[in-house]
Parts: sequence; structure tokens; C-alpha cells
Amino acid sequence: MELITPRLKLRDFIKADYPAFRDMNSREEMHTFEKVPPSENETRETLETAIRNQDDIPRTTFKLAITVPPDNTVRGLIKLTREWEAIRQWEVGWAVHPQEWGRGYATEAAWFAMDWAFRELMVHRIIAYCHADNIASVRVMQKLGMQPEGRLRETRWLNKQWCDEYVYAILEKEWKLTNNLLD
Ligand SMILES: CC(C)(COP(=O)(O)OP(=O)(O)OC[C@H]1O[C@@H](n2cnc3c(N)ncnc32)[C@H](O)[C@@H]1OP(=O)(O)O)[C@@H](O)C(=O)NCCC(=O)NCCS
Repeated sequence: MELITPRLKLRDFIKADYPAFRDMNSREEMHTFEKVPPSENETRETLETAIRNQDDIPRTTFKLAITVPPDNTVRGLIKLTREWEAIRQWEVGWAVHPQEWGRGYATEAAWFAMDWAFRELMVHRIIAYCHADNIASVRVMQKLGMQPEGRLRETRWLNKQWCDEYVYAILEKEWKLTNNLLD
């Protein structure tokens, strides 16, 4: 699986990605609003699971490395997961190496992954969740044209306290309309 965007390449993870993936995953800034930095073993397990999922039939998880060609090093990730089969709802998630923040990479990668999902996976809704204080992530959702669907109260336990999270989503028809993709 590979998607080419104007500046990025989104591709399946491979075993050799471990050092770069670990470098990104172990940084404190990556976990301000997410669970504590994972151990080396947990990171390795996450990578191995992502690689195993590539063979699932049907494939219901696409965890893709974001790279910036011509460099093939992991600089972020995009994840698409089937969340609710009956209504064809998928969840999108993102993370970008702190050295690359603010360059629009999360938005660009998510846009192409979501566009591909609407076209190729017959997706009806794409949903995203984030910690209510994660302004950068909320901004990415807004830039993608996703609509706020609510604030879930105290659904996350982080740093010894309950935290709220936002839910944003976009429908296939909204995606086509927002992006001028109507037939
Ligand atoms: C969320 C994350 C993926 C965004 O990646 P990114 O490549 O920097 O995102 P983009 O550049 O596409 O967009 C970020 C937007 O947030 C804005 N932003 C970032 N921090 C901000 C802040 N503290 N206040 C206001 N806006 C902020 C940026 O200015 C940009 O908006 P703009 O284009 O209108 O200027 C990145 O911060 C990250 O990996 N965070 C850690 C992991 C994480 O929280 N993942 C999301 C889990 S839900």
C-alpha cells in the first residue's frame, strides 16, 4: 500500500522502520495528550502488529508511515481503522515527528488517506477523536472539513486525571462537496 501526495509518500511500515519509529514514539512531546511514552518492547509490538495487519483479508487497519521523499525515513504516521462495519464508519488518526510540526504534513497525509478511503473502501463516515486540549489535532480536523460532533466528558484517564475528548467526523457526501469531487 502506497499513496503519493505532493510532498509526501505514505507507505506500509516495514521492520527496518523500527529505529525511526522508536525515535518519534519515545519523544515526550508526542505524549502530552496521549498515553505515556511506550517502552521499547511496546513500540516494537506496535510496529509488528501494524506489519501483521497488512495481510488481513479484508484489511481493516491501515497504519501508514509518512515519509518525505527522497528520504524514506518515518516522519509520521496515518492510521485508518474500520470502527463500525454496519455503517461503514472508519476512524482516522495521525502523528508527526515534532521536528516536522507545523508544515502541514498531518493535514496533507490525512487528506490523501481519507480521499483514498472514500474512493476505494466505500467508506460512509470518517471519524476522529482527540484530547480536548489538543489544539493542533483539532485544527487538523477543521482543515480537513470535519465537523464537530460532540465533546465526550471524562473519557480519557491521563496524568492521573480524567480528560474530555472531541469527536469530529465527515460524511462521504460532505467530503465530495467540500473538495469539489461531485460527479
Ligand atoms: C497533531 C499533529 C499530528 C499535527 O501535526 P502537524 O503536521 O504539525 O499538523 P499540520 O501542520 O497539518 O496542522 C497543525 C495546525 O495546528 C496549528 N497549531 C499547532 N499547535 C497549535 C497551538 N498550540 N495553538 C493553535 N494552533 C496550533 C498549526 O498552526 C496548524 O494550523 P494552521 O495550518 O492553520 O496554521 C502533531 O502535533 C502531533 O503529532 N502531535 C502529537 C501526537 C498527537 O497528538 N496526535 C494526535 C492524536 S489525536
